[in-house]
Amino acid sequence: MQTLTVDLGERSYPIHIGPGLLEQTEWLLSHLPQKRVAIVTNTTVAPLYLEKLSRPLRAAGVDVVPIILPDGEEYKDWQTLNRIFDELLGHRAERKTTLIALGGGVVGDMTGFAAASYQRGAPFIQVPTTLLAQVDSSVGGKTGINHPLGKNMIGAFYQPKAVIADTDTLKTLPARELSAGLAEIIKYGLIWDADFFAWLESHMAALRALDPGAISYAIYRSCEIKAQVVAADERENGLRALLNLGHTFGHAIEAGMGYGNWLHGEAVGAGMVLAGRLSLRLGLIAADAQARIEALVAAAGLPVEVPALGLDQYLSYMGVDKKVEGGRIRFVLLKRIGEAFVTAEVPREALALVLPTAR
Ligand code: NAD
Ligand code: GLY
Repeated sequence: MQTLTVDLGERSYPIHIGPGLLEQTEWLLSHLPQKRVAIVTNTTVAPLYLEKLSRPLRAAGVDVVPIILPDGEEYKDWQTLNRIFDELLGHRAERKTTLIALGGGVVGDMTGFAAASYQRGAPFIQVPTTLLAQVDSSVGGKTGINHPLGKNMIGAFYQPKAVIADTDTLKTLPARELSAGLAEIIKYGLIWDADFFAWLESHMAALRALDPGAISYAIYRSCEIKAQVVAADERENGLRALLNLGHTFGHAIEAGMGYGNWLHGEAVGAGMVLAGRLSLRLGLIAADAQARIEALVAAAGLPVEVPALGLDQYLSYMGVDKKVEGGRIRFVLLKRIGEAFVTAEVPREALALVLPTAR
C-alpha cells in the first residue's frame, strides 16, 4: 500500500492506494468518531463490494446503515440526494455518524454533498471504486449534484477524512469506464508533467490491461499532482482551474448529448482534444504536440471525434460553467505538453474553426 497526504493544515487527510484495502478496514476505523457509519453506494456497486466492506466493519463492532441509490449520472440530482437524507433521518443518523461513499464519482460527489449539509456537516470517507474516482473525484473535496441547466452547479467544497482506493475494485470495471478514468490521468500529464505524459505514451497498453505496477504508479502520480494543486488552491481561486482542462468543452458535450450518454471521462477526453486544437489554432502549441495528444487520447480508448452540437449550442452550454467570470467564458489552454494556463481571450472566430458545426 502507498499513502499520500493532502496537506490542508488541520483538515489534512491521507490517500491510501493499494490492492485488498476494502477488507483492511483499520485504515477506516481510525477515522470514525463513533462506531456508526452509513455506506452510500449504488445498485451496481452494492452487489460487488458492499458486503466486502461491511463485514469487517461489523466484525469490529461498527453499526452499518447501507444506502443504495439508483446508478447513473442522471440520478445525480436533488431527488436522489434527498433519498440519502431520508435514509439518514429514518435511521436516526447523528452528526458524528460517518458517511462512506462506496462507488464512482457520482456516488462520491453526492455523498460528499450530503455529508457537507447533513446536520450542517457530518464526517465522510471516500472509498472510490472507479479509476476516475481513484485519480480525481475522490480527492480535493469538490462535492455536488447536477442541475438540468448545468453540470455540478449545486455543491460545496467539503473535504473527506480519508480516501481509500482499493485497486482490486478496478478488475470489475467495464473497459469503457476504465478509459474514462484514463482521460483524467492524461490530463495531469498535459497540465503538469511532460515526463508523466511521455510515460503514459509508453504504458497505455499496460494500463488498459490493468498491469498492477503500471496502474498503481499512474494512480499514485495522479493523486500526487492533484494533492499538490489542491493544497495550493483548495477553493479554485487560480491554479486549481487548470484541473479543468478539457472540462469546459466536456461539460458542454455531456449536457448537449444528454447526461449519461457520453461518460464524463469520454467528454473530457474529447474536450482535451478540442483544447489542444484551440491552442494549436491560437499558435500556442505545435502540430506535433497536438498529434501526440490525439494519439494518446485515442490509445486510451477515448473518442477523438467531437460531436457536432453547433457553435451556438456549445457557447450556450459553456456559458454555464463555474469558470465563467463577468459573463466571459474562461478556457484552459496549453502552452506546451506539461504546461497549461487559463484565459478568456479566445476570439469567436477561433472557436468557430475548432468546434464542428455540421449536424
Ligand atoms: P460513475 O460514478 O457513474 O461510475 C461509472 C459506472 O461504473 C457506474 O455505472 C458505476 O455504478 C460503475 N462502477 C463503479 N465502480 C465499479 C466497479 N468497481 N466495478 C464495476 N462497476 C463499477 O462515474 P465516474 O466516472 O466514476 O465519475 C463521474 C462523475 O464524477 C461525474 O459526475 C463527474 O462530474 C464527477 N467528477 C467529480 C470530480 C470532483 O472533483 N469531485 C472530478 C471528476 C469527476
Ligand atoms: N476535477 C477538478 C477539480 O477537482 O478541481
